[in-house]
Amino acid sequence: MVVCEIVFSPTGGTRRVARIVSEVLSAQVRTLDLTARDGAWRGASCTEDEVAVIAVPSYGGRMPSLAAERLSAISGGGARAVLVCVYGNRAFEDTLVEMEDRAVAAGFRVVAAVAAVAEHSIVRKYAAGRPDSEDRLRLEEYARRIAERLHAGADSLMEPLPGNRPYRESKRVGLVPLPSRACDGCGACARRCPAGAIDAADPKRVDEARCISCMACVAVCPKSVRRISRVKAAAVSAMLGKVCSGRRECGIFL
Ligand SMILES: Cc1cc2nc3c(=O)[nH]c(=O)nc-3n(C[C@H](O)[C@H](O)[C@H](O)COP(=O)(O)O)c2cc1C
Repeated sequence: MVVCEIVFSPTGGTRRVARIVSEVLSAQVRTLDLTARDGAWRGASCTEDEVAVIAVPSYGGRMPSLAAERLSAISGGGARAVLVCVYGNRAFEDTLVEMEDRAVAAGFRVVAAVAAVAEHSIVRKYAAGRPDSEDRLRLEEYARRIAERLHAGADSLMEPLPGNRPYRESKRVGLVPLPSRACDGCGACARRCPAGAIDAADPKRVDEARCISCMACVAVCPKSVRRISRVKAAAVSAMLGKVCSGRRECGIFL
């Protein structure tokens, strides 16, 4: 059984979770990276005998719009799919049902879903270090249960996924990271930006309308000089403090 991992992961947490699940399912994993702007995902397809692991982070309880658009450009070809939604210890609300709808529309058959916690990419002190060893054990156990269902020939979910339709409103976070004067214009951020919002010739210039606040540029900056303003960071941190505290555990939906 070949696993086709279809991942949108600006700062790497979603990719780490997806990999834990994929590696239990199969030793043969190929990846379609929806984060990359190279468009290799455009027109890509899966086959009926493959299993797709479709993994995205939750943004405001929804799929990131770029991930939704890019998933729609892939043809599922009847492949069975495991959905993996990764969130920063607040909540994932309607992310899984939106993923299910997008996956079915693209031609996948959804068999299972997982919700997992990873470090909050905006304020990294929340869920810091996750997925951790406890998450890994839990995710590996989930993946073994999913593998059993796949080997038994399951081709649909037994229960509806948590979440609401219509989905909650998708709101722009509006946090646009900018470089300090110490930026030497190396361009790593522009190359990594999934939205193409940073000018490659002058990385200090950002198209704020395109920026999806995913923090890929902050994570990749080799000099750690790209960040959101201190005032906004403090406000977001205080707001998240109220809703992100207390450990939330990963969950499986079959
Ligand atoms: C714009 C944005 C919105 C987010 N919204 C939520 C949210 O609604 N709930 C939550 O628990 N985490 C939220 N997070 C945290 C991410 O879902 C989490 O950190 C995820 O692991 C990031 O994935 P990545 O490391 O693959 O980029 C948000 C992060 C960003 C950047």
